[in-house]
Amino acid sequence: MQPFVFHNPTKIDFGAGKVVKAGKATAEFGKKALLVYGQNSLKKTGIFDRITASLKEAGVEYVEFGGVKSNPVLSHTQEGVELAKKENVDVILAAGGGSVLDEAKAIAAGALYDGDVWDFFIDKAKVEQALPLVTVLTLAATGSEMNCGGVVTNEKTQQKFNIFGAPLYPRTSILDPELTYSVPSDYTAYAGVDAISHLIEGYFTSTDTETPLQDRFVEGTVKVIKGATERLLRRGDDPDARANMMWASTLALNGLSTAGIGSYSMPNHMIEHSLSAMYDIHHGAGLSIVIPAWMAYQAERDPQKFARFANRVFRCSGGSTAERGLYASDAMREWFRKIGAPIDLSEGDIPAEDIPAIAENATMLAQKWGLEEYTKDVIIDILKRCD
Ligand code: NZQ
Ligand code: ZN
Repeated sequence: MQPFVFHNPTKIDFGAGKVVKAGKATAEFGKKALLVYGQNSLKKTGIFDRITASLKEAGVEYVEFGGVKSNPVLSHTQEGVELAKKENVDVILAAGGGSVLDEAKAIAAGALYDGDVWDFFIDKAKVEQALPLVTVLTLAATGSEMNCGGVVTNEKTQQKFNIFGAPLYPRTSILDPELTYSVPSDYTAYAGVDAISHLIEGYFTSTDTETPLQDRFVEGTVKVIKGATERLLRRGDDPDARANMMWASTLALNGLSTAGIGSYSMPNHMIEHSLSAMYDIHHGAGLSIVIPAWMAYQAERDPQKFARFANRVFRCSGGSTAERGLYASDAMREWFRKIGAPIDLSEGDIPAEDIPAIAENATMLAQKWGLEEYTKDVIIDILKRCD
């Protein structure tokens, strides 16, 4: 195991009915809030009314900022920054899925910064401070509710880049599984893909072979997410499956599974971000296209880990190590097919002739993240396996 610091300051308030505490949680950080939310779901489900009632009850004045789109964009984020500054809000309350939470993080940082908020995404400025952020999660997938990262697309340059910094950890995140009952089956499936991807990126790319605790944590959590996703596709308001999905997806990207594994990388996310930047495909749907291809590519280089994963997660015990390694990729693709997530570029309506342009776009993020082995040619090789 490698040395590490694990310091996650986000307070989690988990349980059915906890949404009523949104106002009180926000009031801890000020009297005036910017309430950030998405397109339609919050009002349609009645969650908006429940949140605003609790804000009123707690004596918190709020300014609405709705309209965050899935795969949030820079221009809307900049509008949010302007509004937060103009209204001089004390705190941001984000209610929605990962897109809403991510845009809210950028607004929280931008509100206390004189320059353009995009500076944080291109490493021109560091996030030294941010307005306090409270979140109410309505779609369990990204882990944004308990980490300090966020992703926004600059629609002019087609760069889907990330902002990062300790001040962006939500102060409190309310995880009320009942709020996710209304998530439709396609987004439920994509959520399963995304949460699994967060676990396996570190698992497959770290070089330390003596991390049995982290390995078992990942394998076990992947199995829980698989099971919960399948149950939810049969019955979307299954309380236990929604609760398990919510907590598992939070733990999948809050720093716990990677604590002690040493350096690791996120190549699937690097490539996927180009798909969602260029084609506005949902993040989880882009990942279900990329992951099996990347797993096959990587299993040819490091079959041992993939063979172990095939054995422990998909109960595959026969064949050579190399065969079992490749089986892990096939089994993952089959599972994605079973839950209705796209498994190749055509199912994602992405033209195969665009592969060179996608690879060109992805190299921008590969360079930003220091993934030197992922040259344009390597990315093309992986993308061709997605065809
Ligand atoms: O906009 P509304 O109308 O609210 O609808 C949303 C959206 O259309 C809907 N939805 C949310 N809660 C609902 C609901 N529909 C019915 N009932 C509810 N309770 O779901 C749709 C998708 O929402 P979105 O927030 O886009 O999905 P998700 O949570 O998967 O977030 C995806 C974004 O997060 C980023 C992705 O790149 C993508 O931009 N990620 C953020 C990460 C982070 N901050 O740590 C890590 C991830 O790897 C990921 O990159
Ligand atoms: Zn992700």
